[in-house]
Amino acid sequence: METTGGHLAERCTDKVWSRGDTMFGSEHDYEAAFRERRVLITGGLGFIGSNLARWLVELGAKVLLVDSLIPYYGGNLFNIEDLEDQVRVNIADVRDENSMRYLVRDQDYLFNLAGQVSHIDSMQDPYTDLDINCRSQLFILEACRHNNPDVKIVFASTRQIYGKPDYLPVDERHLLHPTDVNGINKMAGEWYHIVYNNVYAIRATSLRMTNTYGPRMLVKHNRQTFLGWLIRLAIDDEEIQIFGDGQQLRDFNYVDDVVDALLRAATNGAANGEIFNLGGDQPISLLDLVELLIEICGTGRYKLVPFPPERKAIDIGDYYSNYFKAQQVLGWEPRTPLREGLERTVAFYKKNREHYW
Ligand SMILES: NC(=O)c1ccc[n+]([C@@H]2O[C@H](COP(=O)([O-])OP(=O)(O)OC[C@H]3O[C@@H](n4cnc5c(N)ncnc54)[C@H](O)[C@@H]3O)[C@@H](O)[C@H]2O)c1
Repeated sequence: METTGGHLAERCTDKVWSRGDTMFGSEHDYEAAFRERRVLITGGLGFIGSNLARWLVELGAKVLLVDSLIPYYGGNLFNIEDLEDQVRVNIADVRDENSMRYLVRDQDYLFNLAGQVSHIDSMQDPYTDLDINCRSQLFILEACRHNNPDVKIVFASTRQIYGKPDYLPVDERHLLHPTDVNGINKMAGEWYHIVYNNVYAIRATSLRMTNTYGPRMLVKHNRQTFLGWLIRLAIDDEEIQIFGDGQQLRDFNYVDDVVDALLRAATNGAANGEIFNLGGDQPISLLDLVELLIEICGTGRYKLVPFPPERKAIDIGDYYSNYFKAQQVLGWEPRTPLREGLERTVAFYKKNREHYW
C-alpha cells in the first residue's frame, strides 16, 4: 500500500508491464487505505461516482463530491440520499478552472469521473464534449500540478477509444482509432493524465471501462448508457428495439466491480502511469442480453429493427475486453455474474422508479 507524498522516483513508475510481472493486488489491499483520507470525486453525483462514494464512506474516507448537475446528464441528488450527512457536495463545473484550482487542494485521492458520456451528443455538439472531456482534464491536472502535486488520480477512461476492434478480445496494446468525437476527447483526456504522471510525477492511473451497469445509472433517455434504457423499457413493459440482427457481442461490468477496480488502482503503486482495461467475464450478444433482461423483469418484449444511420455510423460492432493486465497487476477481476447484477439493478429501479424516470 502506498502513502501520499514521497519522492518523485517513488511516486512514479515507468515500469513496462509484462506477462511475467508479480501480482500486487489482493482481496482487501485497500481496506485501511482510505480511513480519514480526503477523497475528491469529480462527477460524484453520477452513476459510478455515487456508487464509489458509498464504498469510500464505508471505508472511512472524507469524501467531497464535485458535480455540475447539468440537466440530462447523469448527476442526480437522489443517488446520495442515504449519504447526505456523510459526504460534502460542491456543485461546480470542471470547466471552471478557478473552482478546480481550489477544490483539488489538500485531497489525498482524486477520482476523475466527470464527463460528457453520450456518444451521440458528442457528434451533435462536439465543442461541449471537447471542453468537458479534453480541455477540462488539463484544468484539473494543472490545478493538481500547482496546488496538490502529491495527489493520486484515477481517471475514468473508456473502451470507446479503441473504436471498431481489429481483434478480440481487445487488450491495451490494441491501436486506438475511435469512431466518434467522444472517443477522441476521452483518449486525449486519458493521455494528459499519463503524461502528467510521467513528466510531473503526479501519480495517475487510467481505467478503460467497458459497459458498466447497476443501480443509479441515468435511465431518463437513451442517449447515454443503452443498457439503462433497455432496463427502463423492460420494466415499463414496452417494446425494446434491437438494432441489426442482435448478434453484436458486448461485455458488461456491474458497478461494484468497477468501484473495486477504482479503489485498487488508487492504492497500488505499480498502477502509477499505467492503463488498464476492465472487462466482463463473458461476452454476450445483445439479443441474449435482452432476453435475459425480459426474463428477469417478467415484462417487456423486443423487435429487431434496422440500425438508425446516425447510430450505425459510430457503431463499433463486436467488442469485449482482455483484462489480463488488471488481473495480474491489480488482482482485479469481475465478480458479479450478469444475471445477479441485472436482478439487483432491476429491483433497485422498481423500488426507486420515481427518482429516475
Ligand atoms: N457507465 C459506463 O458504462 C462507462 C463506460 C466507460 C467510461 N465511463 C466513464 O466513467 C465516468 C462516469 O460515468 P457514469 O456512467 O457514472 O456517467 P454519469 O453521467 O452518471 O456521471 C458523470 C457525472 O459527471 C457530471 N458532469 C458532467 N459534466 C460535468 C462538468 N462539466 N462538471 C462537473 N461535473 C460534470 C455529471 O453531472 C454526472 O453526474 C465518465 O467519465 C465516463 O466517460 C463510463
